[in-house]
Amino acid sequence: MIKTKAKIIFIMGVSGVGKSTIGSLLSEKLNIPFFDGDDFHPEENILKMSKGEPLNDDDRLGWLQTLNKLAIEQLVNKGCVIVCSALKEKYRDILNTDIKERAEWVFLNGSFEQIKQRINDRKGHFMSSDLLKSQFDILEAPKNAIEIDINLSPNNIVEMISKEILKKSEFGLFGLGVMGKSLSRNLANKGFNISLFNRHVEGVEEDVAKKFKNEFKELSSSLAFDNIESFVNSLQKPRKIMLMVNAGKIVDYVIEDLLPFLDAGDILIDGGNSNYNKTKERFHYLKSKNIHFVGTGVSGGEEGALKGPSIMPGCDKDVYKDIQPFLEAIAAKDANNLPCCTHIGTEGSGHFVKMVHNGIEYAEMQLLAEVYVMLKALGNNPDQIATILESWKASTNSYLLEITIDILRKKEGDDWLVNKIMDKAGNKGTGNWTTISTAELGVPSTMIASALFARYTSFYKEERITASENFEKNTTSNLNLTTDDILKAYQFARIINHYQGFKLIQEASKSYSWNLNLSELARIWTGGCIIKSDLMVEFVDIFKTTDNLLTNKIIIKKIKLLKPSIKKVVSEGILNELAIPTFSEAINFLNSFAVADSSANLIQAQRDYFGAHTYQRKDDNSKKFYHTDWINN
Ligand code: 6PG
Repeated sequence: MIKTKAKIIFIMGVSGVGKSTIGSLLSEKLNIPFFDGDDFHPEENILKMSKGEPLNDDDRLGWLQTLNKLAIEQLVNKGCVIVCSALKEKYRDILNTDIKERAEWVFLNGSFEQIKQRINDRKGHFMSSDLLKSQFDILEAPKNAIEIDINLSPNNIVEMISKEILKKSEFGLFGLGVMGKSLSRNLANKGFNISLFNRHVEGVEEDVAKKFKNEFKELSSSLAFDNIESFVNSLQKPRKIMLMVNAGKIVDYVIEDLLPFLDAGDILIDGGNSNYNKTKERFHYLKSKNIHFVGTGVSGGEEGALKGPSIMPGCDKDVYKDIQPFLEAIAAKDANNLPCCTHIGTEGSGHFVKMVHNGIEYAEMQLLAEVYVMLKALGNNPDQIATILESWKASTNSYLLEITIDILRKKEGDDWLVNKIMDKAGNKGTGNWTTISTAELGVPSTMIASALFARYTSFYKEERITASENFEKNTTSNLNLTTDDILKAYQFARIINHYQGFKLIQEASKSYSWNLNLSELARIWTGGCIIKSDLMVEFVDIFKTTDNLLTNKIIIKKIKLLKPSIKKVVSEGILNELAIPTFSEAINFLNSFAVADSSANLIQAQRDYFGAHTYQRKDDNSKKFYHTDWINN
C-alpha cells in the first residue's frame, strides 16, 4: 500500500547540470534515500556507453521500467530522490507509471555554453560538444516541473526545491459549504495534502477556512486561505482545484476570479449540481485558455461526501488520469471494493448523468411518498408503515427506503415528526432540467416528469385546501389491497423508472457522441449515491449485454410477474381517489410502450387535417409522406 504522503522526486536534465550533486544534497535535507539512475543501467547499456555509442529507445525502456519499479518500492516507505536525464516526455511517462500523483519533477536547466563550460571545468570529466548537443536536440522541457536555473548555488537550488515541494498542496478545495467541508475531510483522511479556500465576506464569512482547519484534527496539515492568489499558489502543478459552490452564475464568477492565477494545464473540477449545458460551455471556454474543466456529479449528500460519495467526472481521458487518484480514493467502494467513481465521458457528460441520477431520485422518492399514501389509507400510522417497509428490505432494499423508515419512526412528543412537516415539496432544479432535457431529446421519461409535477402540485397548498373542500372525496369502495400488492407494484414501478432514466442517458450518449458505459454507470451508482439499491446492483451485469433493460429476460420475467399487482394497485388507488400519479405513470407507460399498433395514427390524421402536416402509411415502406384533403374529398 503506497503511503499517501510519500513522494518520488525525479531530478532531470542534460548531462553536466549537476543532477547527482543536487539530488544527493536534497535527499539529505529531506531525509529520504537518493538513487542515481545511471547505477541501474543493465550491463549491455553500460557496454554500449563505454564504447561511446548512444542508447536507443529500446535500450532505455528496460532501464526506465527498472527505475519506475524502484520508485514504486520506495513509496511504501518514505519515497526517495532519483536522478535521471529523462529528456523526453515518453521517458517521463514510463517513470511516472502508476505513481504520477506521487511524483514531483525538478528540471535543472541551463544554456549549452553554460553546461559545456561546467563540464570542461570538471577534472577528468569530458563530454564532446556533439554528445551534449545531441542531448539538447532531444530535450523536451517538462510541462509541470519545478524549473531551476543551474546558475544558482547548489544549496540555494536545494532550498528552492524543498520549499516548492514541502509547502505545496496536492489538491485544493474551493468553497467550504456542507459538501465542501465533508469532501475536504474525506481527502485529508485519505492522507492527501490539501489547501482549503473560502471567500472572505466582511461580517458574514470570515476566516472560514482557518476556523474549519482548526475544527478537525485530520486537517492539521492542510493549508487554509481566504485569499485566492495565495490559495492557488499553494498548489502543486498541474493544479487540481475542486469548486464546491452553488450552481449558476457563481461558478462563472469563481472561474473568472481564479483565471488570472492559473497556469496552462491546471484543472478545475466543478462538483456542484451545475447544468450540463453550462458545463459544456465552460469546458470549451476554459479549453481555449488551456485550462481543463471537469463537470463532476457528486452524489451522497453530506454523509456521502465525508465517507464516500459516488463521483461522476466528465472530462478528457488524459485529464482524468491526473485527478483519478484523488477522486477514486475518496469515493465510496462497490461490493468488489472498486471506487464508485469512473471517467464518465467528456464535456458535460458528468453533470448530465448526475442530473439524470437526480431525476431517477425524484421518481424513487415520489414512489415512496405514494406507498406512504396507500399504506396510510389502509389505516397504518407512520410507525406501522415503517415496520411494513422494514419487511421490504429483504427483497427491494435501497438507501431511500432505509431513510424513509428512519423518517417515519422519528417522533416529536406524542406525534410523528413527519405529520408536522409542511407538505410543499421544494427542489433545486435538477429534476426540472432532467424533464426539460428528456423533452428536448424526445425520450419519454414520464415517471421523472410526473414526480417533478407532483412536487409542483404540492406547492399550491392553499389552492389544494380549497379544492379539497370543493371536490370532497366521494368513494364508496374500500381500498381492497394487501401490503404485498403494494410491494409488488412498487417493484414494478422502480424498474420502469430506472429503464426510463437509463434510456435518457443512452439517447443523450448517442446525441452528444459521449459513448457512455451504462454498466459502469450502474456500478458507480451501487454505492455512495442517493439512488444506490439492490436493483442497481442487478443492472450492472444486465447492462453488460444490453442497453435496453426491457429486452433483458430477467427484467421481462419480473415485469410480467409484477404487472397484475400494479394494475390492481393503480385501479384501487384511482377508485379511492388516492394521489398516485407516478405509480399510475409506470403502468400507463408500459401499456403505451408494449403496444404494436398505437393511437398515434389518429394524431397524425388530426395534424394532417388541420395543418396538412402529412403522414406516412403502414402499407408503404418507402417512408413517403402523404396528405389528404380531408374536407373536400
Ligand atoms: C445527491 C442529491 C443532491 C441534492 C439534491 C437535492 O445526489 O447527493 O441529489 O444532489 O441533495 O440536489 O435535490 P432537490 O433539492 O432538487 O430535491
